[in-house]
Amino acid sequence: MKTEKQLNIKYSVFEGVTDLPKKAQELMQQAIMARENAYAPYSKFKVGAAVRLKNGQIFIGSNQENAAYPSGLCAERVAIYQASTQCPDEEIEMIAISGTAEDPTCYPVSPCGACRQSLSEYETKQKKLIPVYFMGAEGNIIRTASIKDLLPFLFDGSLM
Ligand code: THU
Repeated sequence: MKTEKQLNIKYSVFEGVTDLPKKAQELMQQAIMARENAYAPYSKFKVGAAVRLKNGQIFIGSNQENAAYPSGLCAERVAIYQASTQCPDEEIEMIAISGTAEDPTCYPVSPCGACRQSLSEYETKQKKLIPVYFMGAEGNIIRTASIKDLLPFLFDGSLM
C-alpha cells in the first residue's frame, strides 16, 4: 500500500525592513551591518547573520572564506556558534540573515542546508521555535516561524 502525503510550509513575506516587527527590524539591521564585514574574496558573496537571545544580547556573524574553500564558514554558523559559546544556556529568540552578490541581490537569501542543520540543533536543544528572517541586500524579507520549516525530515538526536 502507498499513501500520498503533502507538507505544507507557512511563511510570511514582508515588503521591506521597516515592515518588520521592531525586534526583528533591529536584528536585521545588525545582520546587514555584519554582512559588510564578510570576508568573501573568492565568492564575492557576502552574508551577515544576527542572533538575538532572550536576554536581549545580539551575536553577529559574517561568512569567512578560505583559499582552501571548505575551510571557510557561513555567516549563520559563525553567529550561532558564538552565541552558544558565550551564552550556552540562554534561549535563542530569533535569527536574521542578509546575503548579497556584488550586484545587490533582491531575492531573499535563505540559509544553506548545512546551516539549516546546524541551526536546527539549537531549536531542538531549547525546545522552543526559532523564527528565521532572511533577505537579500534589499527587497522582500521572508520569515518562517521555525528553522524546521526550512528543513523537513531533518535528522536530529532523537533518531540516534
Ligand atoms: N554563505 C553563507 O554565509 N550562508 C549561507 O547560508 C549560504 C552561503 C556563504 C558561503 C560562501 O562564503 C558564500 O556565501 C558563497 O557560497
